[in-house]
Amino acid sequence: MTAKTFQFDPELVVNRLGYGTMQLPGKGVWGPAENPEEAVAVMQAVLASDVNFIDTADSYGPFFANLYVKEALKTYRGPHKMIATKVGFTRQGPGEWTVVGRPEYLRQQVELNLWSLGLESIDLLQLHRIDPAVSLEAQIGVLADMQQEGKIKHIGLSQVSVSELKQAQAITPIVSVQNRYNLIDRHDEAVLNYADEQGIAFIPWFPLATGKLATDENGILMQIAKTHQAQPAQIALAWLLQRSDVILPIPGTRNIAHLKANIAAQEIVLTPAEFDQLSRLAD
Ligand SMILES: NC(=O)c1ccc[n+]([C@@H]2O[C@H](COP(=O)([O-])OP(=O)(O)OC[C@H]3O[C@@H](n4cnc5c(N)ncnc54)[C@H](OP(=O)(O)O)[C@@H]3O)[C@@H](O)[C@H]2O)c1
Repeated sequence: MTAKTFQFDPELVVNRLGYGTMQLPGKGVWGPAENPEEAVAVMQAVLASDVNFIDTADSYGPFFANLYVKEALKTYRGPHKMIATKVGFTRQGPGEWTVVGRPEYLRQQVELNLWSLGLESIDLLQLHRIDPAVSLEAQIGVLADMQQEGKIKHIGLSQVSVSELKQAQAITPIVSVQNRYNLIDRHDEAVLNYADEQGIAFIPWFPLATGKLATDENGILMQIAKTHQAQPAQIALAWLLQRSDVILPIPGTRNIAHLKANIAAQEIVLTPAEFDQLSRLAD
């Protein structure tokens, strides 16, 4: 039996199937959405659903994704939604990302995440990338300081090795790691296994291989989808949910029908044979 929820702490227990905001801003994750009202409507649909784990970052837009989250939160009156955001990437244009981990910059960006999301504290602050030009102690240290100040509840990492994760754990508790991982891209299996052992959340980015897994017309993914009267994207998400109880997939979409389909994927139960057949896709 797979667990439906993951517990960060007794007050932060989330449904494992979450949502990622990176599809909301303009092309190349740069500038505003083509239709900002639609982006806010997608966020409102996320808030109205049972998704209560939302992944975002200051660098998505920059800021536009966070501002759509903030706009949707203005009229939201339901139970708490956990917002996970990130710092450490600067932007120079569409599709361009440059890591900056200087502590004074990270501090500024935590403050700007609070402002752009309209929050008083951040449930999960992830270091988007470790900056090799700055000591890890300085990068994690400033986040730990801001945790002491009450601006951050939990600290996570993104795109790290097991060794980097262990080095960060020696500085402060790390509750999550966000690495690229999906049915056909399992390069970071060792990081997932370590997270599983440690009870750390593993948040796979590109859970649908940027949509490739949604359009698979042939092969085993489609066959299994047909058996479940489901879509390939849903089967790819069901596989992630069954792979480990510490996995929190955050599929991104700007389409409300896709959002609903992705949420429904948490109800799909793959047989052990189906799970094994899918697992062999990355061999
Ligand atoms: N930590 C990092 O460095 C990092 C890097 C990249 C991403 N991320 C995070 O990970 C999240 C997920 O990544 P992602 O959004 O880039 O890629 P993804 O979730 O693998 O795929 C998103 C793509 O799949 C399509 N899609 C989603 N649901 C679908 C469905 N049910 N049927 C058909 N197509 C579907 C979307 O198009 P439609 O809009 O048409 O649905 C979009 O083109 C991001 O939103 C972001 O929060 C983190």
